[in-house]
Amino acid sequence: MLHSFFAALTATAALVQRSSGQQYQNNTDESVNVRWIDGSAPAYNSGTTFGLPWARGKFFPNGTNFAISGDGALQSWVTAYWNDGSIKWTGHAIPASEASQESYVITASSGAGNASQPAGVTTLSSDDGITVDTGKISVSFPRTGNNVIDQITTAGGKVVGQNGKLVLHSQSGVSEDIQDRGNSSIGYFGFESAIDNVTVSENSPVRTLVTVRGKHQVANGEDHDDWLQFVLRFYLYANSDAIRLVHSVVFDGNSTGDFITGVGVRFEVPLTDEELYNRHVRIAGVDGGMLSEAVKGITGLRRDPGEEVRSAQFNGEATPSIDTWDTRVSSRLQWIPDWNDYTLSQLSPDGFTLKKRTKPGQSWVNIPGSTRSGGLAYLGGATQGGLAVGLRNFWKHYPVGLDIRDAATDVGQITAWLYSPEAPPLDLRPYHDGLGLETYEEQLDALEITYEDWEEGFDTPYGVARTNELYIYAFDQTPPQDHLSTLIEHTNTPPVLYAEPEYVHETKAAGNWWAPPSSNTSSDVAAKIESNLEFLAKFYQDQVEQRRWYGFFDSGDIMHTYDVDRHQWRYDIGGYAWDNSELSPDLFFWPQFLRTGNKDVYRFSEALTRHTGEVDVYHIGQWKGLGTRHGVQHWGDSAKQARISTAQYRKIFYFVSGGDERVGELVDETLDTDKTYERLDPNRKVRTDGWEPAPGQPATIGLGTDWSALAASWLLEWERRGSRWQEAKTKLTNTMIGVVNLKNGFVTGSALFNSEDGTLSPPPTDPDNEGVVAVSHLAGAFGLMEVIAEIIEQFDDDLPEGFQQAWLDYCYYYRAPAAEQTARYGTNWTRTATLRQDHSRLLAHGYYLTQNQTYADRAWSEFEADGLNTTGTWEVERLNGSEVLAPVDEATWISTNEAANYGLAAIVNLAYIPEALPESL
Ligand SMILES: *[C@@H]1O[C@H](CO)[C@@H](O)[C@H](O)[C@H]1NC(C)=O
Ligand SMILES: *[C@@H]1O[C@H](CO)[C@@H](O)[C@H](O)[C@H]1NC(C)=O
Ligand SMILES: *[C@@H]1O[C@H](CO)[C@@H](O)[C@H](O)[C@H]1NC(C)=O
Ligand SMILES: *[C@@H]1O[C@H](CO)[C@@H](O)[C@H](O)[C@H]1NC(C)=O
Ligand SMILES: *[C@@H]1O[C@H](CO)[C@@H](O)[C@H](O)[C@H]1NC(C)=O
Ligand SMILES: *[C@@H]1O[C@H](CO)[C@@H](O)[C@H](O)[C@H]1NC(C)=O
Ligand SMILES: *[C@@H]1O[C@H](CO)[C@@H](O)[C@H](O)[C@H]1NC(C)=O
Repeated sequence: MLHSFFAALTATAALVQRSSGQQYQNNTDESVNVRWIDGSAPAYNSGTTFGLPWARGKFFPNGTNFAISGDGALQSWVTAYWNDGSIKWTGHAIPASEASQESYVITASSGAGNASQPAGVTTLSSDDGITVDTGKISVSFPRTGNNVIDQITTAGGKVVGQNGKLVLHSQSGVSEDIQDRGNSSIGYFGFESAIDNVTVSENSPVRTLVTVRGKHQVANGEDHDDWLQFVLRFYLYANSDAIRLVHSVVFDGNSTGDFITGVGVRFEVPLTDEELYNRHVRIAGVDGGMLSEAVKGITGLRRDPGEEVRSAQFNGEATPSIDTWDTRVSSRLQWIPDWNDYTLSQLSPDGFTLKKRTKPGQSWVNIPGSTRSGGLAYLGGATQGGLAVGLRNFWKHYPVGLDIRDAATDVGQITAWLYSPEAPPLDLRPYHDGLGLETYEEQLDALEITYEDWEEGFDTPYGVARTNELYIYAFDQTPPQDHLSTLIEHTNTPPVLYAEPEYVHETKAAGNWWAPPSSNTSSDVAAKIESNLEFLAKFYQDQVEQRRWYGFFDSGDIMHTYDVDRHQWRYDIGGYAWDNSELSPDLFFWPQFLRTGNKDVYRFSEALTRHTGEVDVYHIGQWKGLGTRHGVQHWGDSAKQARISTAQYRKIFYFVSGGDERVGELVDETLDTDKTYERLDPNRKVRTDGWEPAPGQPATIGLGTDWSALAASWLLEWERRGSRWQEAKTKLTNTMIGVVNLKNGFVTGSALFNSEDGTLSPPPTDPDNEGVVAVSHLAGAFGLMEVIAEIIEQFDDDLPEGFQQAWLDYCYYYRAPAAEQTARYGTNWTRTATLRQDHSRLLAHGYYLTQNQTYADRAWSEFEADGLNTTGTWEVERLNGSEVLAPVDEATWISTNEAANYGLAAIVNLAYIPEALPESL
């Protein structure tokens, strides 16, 4: 029997008609297989959201019904539209289930929505707050105050969590060294969440989303402004006993005056009616293991209460009645200490410590620790139930921690520390003092040696963000250890559904510029390229682990360049350190997932996106919407550019995840990036034409790195039909027409952009549009080809006249023979047109667009003209012993620029011109 749900679709009915007024109708059903990327059904599923693509013209939002195989409920909504108003991407939510299917079939069919309603989530909204009932738990969210959750109540009526809030601690300064302590006048502050705004999703029978925004407000300590703004997204699925929490904070403090010493999420757990010996503490250890203790332990004592009593306590079950215990124990319970507080501290990715105490004022007792904690803590009782809080990627985001407090009192507490108060304060100050660099000339000269592009005042973390994911699980009684083990796994690798790569490719909804390996010619060269792509994906996964690229802000990023002498990535050398998406590794890893469905590539890419979209980009302030160039600190470099914040890096995750709301918000933030050019000229240090930006006046933008990023946000806003989609489409269209009208099209290099209407005019160097030539090797390196391929596909028949030709000219002439460049443009630049491997994909795209063999003929030889060598020996060398800090795999021939270029160009070329691939390269 098929159940289906048809909601959130009707609102967009008006968009269905084409401008011609013609109504498309296609009565062919489409059934799409979706599978768990881990290969089999998850042992536990608290509800899942996923995305599916659809070919142009097939399904329209007001006439399509989505159904799922089996007996399940399905909530469906549109996350993107084609130009003709047909559905491009959908998001789907399925409820929690005890036994998930191995795979599902989602069927889209034309016709009125099926009326059958699934048993679902109920949401009650009032002026005071919102109550969401999943059938398993009921959660109340207040609209004001300090609690972000008032109560979590199980279906059995037990309140197992209450007064959920965020906590923050900071101090106004740091002691530089131990001998300075006591000499300073450092102020200490404690804060908790203060709500500004709460919203709840509508029409959400399977999945309800409650979004809470606010700041942290002083709760104790000295006076301080509200700060560290947050957005919390609570996802609750039908039939689920869990809450997924996506927790985002934006650093809006002062790096020299606000040192964070703790960021946490805290819940109270009522314990009043639970005997101390029936209260249980579980703290995740290694590989699904955990510490299992009771507040009043009755094992290991000098006298034995009885085997049944001991095993019940260890297993988290209610002990047999105390009357049945050996009285030598039951008469002496008051002499057994109660363990009130527990702390797990994971201050490094390699080890955690554990301790407990009977109460404040008494010494802590060490508990043997271990390596990497799974990041979940449970407090509760055998009869009254309890709560578990799990922090995803726990040890990877060190320093982190888990606290249990007041377990021996009427109301216990669990705190998940996203930044552990046991760690040194979070120090976001610049790592150097400016080195006396005052003039642009000096700054450019320093760039020559450390590759860092520094400028006073630009090395600020003000406005960067971090997102963490947590799960909160509710229980009617203490669960068995094995179940908690399953939840630890679930917290860290939440189940993900994905369609067949072949299907996703056919729809072209995720771009036509990649294809699954199965569509390749079966040549040896193609097989070698595939194995090289797998090598690169695996290499970076391994480097993350071997080089410990982890940490509160760092986790998810990779490094830029290797230092072969020190056998070390250049973590301390200016522009060679953190990669900040340089040369678009995001555009290699994401399509590599799309084409293979590989779970490890997915999780690597997801972590990359969660990092690059948050930490490397400004979310508030004067540079909102811009990212920072690669460097020792993610925000340290003075090049603040749109190429780093480009929506092109996020959109695959956005769609595949069913429209991840946090990533959607990051894309919204980039819609005002175009205004930043009126205040900040990315070329200010190298400009020779004397032009200066002025607010409200047209500003110069590069037609490569800048326009590709702006175009990516505009396109995505249009595809999403976001609140500014018409403005976005207008700006996109007008800038495209503007490029066409430039005498030399994209070869012009830059133009003056009017942020009011999105029109372009010739650059200041060529006001009369006589034709200038300015070609940069970087123009095409940040997703220009990919966004143009998607734009051309999206516009379809409505593509502005001449745009495709302007692009084809760039593709063809970027590295055409000098004589041909001269014949066409009056000058030539072949010698300086580097990144040939990367640009080979432009020729491949030219062939795809025209089927003109001239493009294809040159593409594969350009692919091999520089960069990584396909037929070379792709191996790592193991280094041990005194040469290195710890054993590592080394590949001195890999830089992230080249890896990204090779990966992306190989994927594009294999998709567009597999037939042109020679038998040997
Ligand atoms: C309907 O969909 C089928 C399958 O994708 C396609 O072949 C056909 O052209 C479509 N018809 C219309 C009218 O779009
Ligand atoms: C879809 O919406 C259009 C425009 O509002 C309308 O003309 C058409 O009848 C609708 N189709 C269905 C199947 O409801
Ligand atoms: C709360 O947020 C929503 C969505 O962003 C917005 O429409 C609304 O105006 C906000 N309300 C308040 C009181 O800020
Ligand atoms: C940042 O804090 C320091 C130290 O408290 C103070 O001297 C400085 O003025 C502050 N800067 C700003 C921009 O508030
Ligand atoms: C390339 O340009 C230079 C400078 O304009 C010119 O002297 C040279 O002849 C050109 N080369 C070719 C092959 O057109
Ligand atoms: C193929 O493209 C090249 C380069 O733009 C052009 O010179 C040639 O005329 C094209 N051939 C055809 C058949 O269109
Ligand atoms: C590519 O690698 C092969 C095998 O190691 C080698 O023979 C060839 O010279 C290399 N080509 C280039 C251009 O480096």
